[in-house]
Amino acid sequence: MTWTNPLRDPRDRRLPRIAGPSSLVIFGVTGDLSRRKLMPAVYDLANRGLLPPGFSLVGFGRRPWTDEDFAATVREAAKAHSRTEFRDDVWERLAEGIRFVQGAFDDDDSFDRLSAALADLDAERGTGGNTAFYLSIPPDAFPTVCEQLKRSGLADQSEGWRRVVIEKPFGHDLESAQKLNAVVNDVFAEDSVFRIDHYLGKETVQNILALRFANQLFEPTWNSHYVDSVQITMAEDIGLGGRAGYYDGIGAARDVIQNHLLQLMALVAMEEPTSFHPAELQAEKIKVLSATSPVEPLAETSARGQYGPGWQGSEKVVGLLQEEGFSETSTTETYAAITVEIASRRWAGVPFYLRTGKRLGRRVTEIALMFKRAPHLPFDDTMTEELGQNALVIRVQPDEGVTLRFGSKVPGSSMEVRDVNMDFSYGEAFTVSSPEAYERLILDVLLGEPSLFPVNAEVELSWKILDPVLALWAEGGRPEEYESGSWGPASADAMLARTGRTWRRP
Ligand code: BG6
Repeated sequence: MTWTNPLRDPRDRRLPRIAGPSSLVIFGVTGDLSRRKLMPAVYDLANRGLLPPGFSLVGFGRRPWTDEDFAATVREAAKAHSRTEFRDDVWERLAEGIRFVQGAFDDDDSFDRLSAALADLDAERGTGGNTAFYLSIPPDAFPTVCEQLKRSGLADQSEGWRRVVIEKPFGHDLESAQKLNAVVNDVFAEDSVFRIDHYLGKETVQNILALRFANQLFEPTWNSHYVDSVQITMAEDIGLGGRAGYYDGIGAARDVIQNHLLQLMALVAMEEPTSFHPAELQAEKIKVLSATSPVEPLAETSARGQYGPGWQGSEKVVGLLQEEGFSETSTTETYAAITVEIASRRWAGVPFYLRTGKRLGRRVTEIALMFKRAPHLPFDDTMTEELGQNALVIRVQPDEGVTLRFGSKVPGSSMEVRDVNMDFSYGEAFTVSSPEAYERLILDVLLGEPSLFPVNAEVELSWKILDPVLALWAEGGRPEEYESGSWGPASADAMLARTGRTWRRP
């Protein structure tokens, strides 16, 4: 019998997945996302030994930077924002492969220089010509950059693989998304396009699949027989100071519901995939998104708001209209809530409430399955006064874990029942900290692993679900003002109250 070194056995799942020879080009290196998330994630991957020895990072931008200037920017970003400890030896090795190409998106020469720089890196460091282009740029620049990549031969797959990574927003409605997809797909085949929805890179979001499909306990109740409604919340306490350029005119529904929240809904509601092969997973998500539509009448089943001044903890904060860069008459919503239904045997009649907002009470993202009440309670009313509903809450962040809420007897001689929580917490159950979403996703791009990236069809279906609500809101009127630090506009409470329900206060 031959002995196999387990460290070399590709079937050993414990083996870290290390990217093969490759380089990453970032467009938009001076942006916030690049500095806070992308560069630190690249450093973290290097620190974890998951990048190949010749890995190269190329920045492309207008600034008159040298390679050293760009490297200094990456170093600063890594020191300030990386998840893992900063180590000089790791940094020095990574820095050897850092280059900067100064240029403009509409300038042919700039892309020819980029092409030459990548060829040099391949010759010097053995990147195999494999390159991922990360477009961390405004969407109106996507077409120009894609065309330049095509013109300069950089999208040509014959010299190694070429992939493109795009950040949302993928359009602002179905029609514009279709146009954008056509432009991108004209240059890159769909299997070379990686659309980032960073929520899918979060551990707790991937855990939805483990929770549902690795256990027998939950599945029997995961349907309309037992579930009364589902509430998906992404609340943030931050305001929009400094983000007017991106956010004004976009609003909460396009920024968060169209992508993150509908993806969470799809994972919660989809059927079991035949396997975790990317195509199988996508097929199930597409099926459930195809069956989803907003509940009518939209004016009553949706709500939007804009934050006014208020208190965020002990800090006095201004309203959106006073934030720098926002027009004084901006009607951009900073809070959005919608109700959707899924036409399937499993979910018929179960409303899914999706809400998101800025400057809310606190930062929390959670998915709550609210169960029906027991059909009969053999207790006096006084004994069950504080009994709510059973709930299973997937705590996506910040306190990652799962909570099960159920009724329990209060200690004492009378039979009084009250709700209690049973908690699983990632922090307590596991000693290793979870990788940042961008770490996971950038590595997946380099590995060519598409499971955690929404495909074209998912993006378009999500717009199809949201478009009717956006059209209604576009008809006019201002979003209702809500006080900063509160839990949103009164219309959001009214939206649930009409069916006798209330929002959870996370
Ligand atoms: C982004 C949105 O996609 O997600 C931002 O554009 C939002 O508006 C951010 O603040 C929140 O991400 P996270 O990972 O901090 O929940």
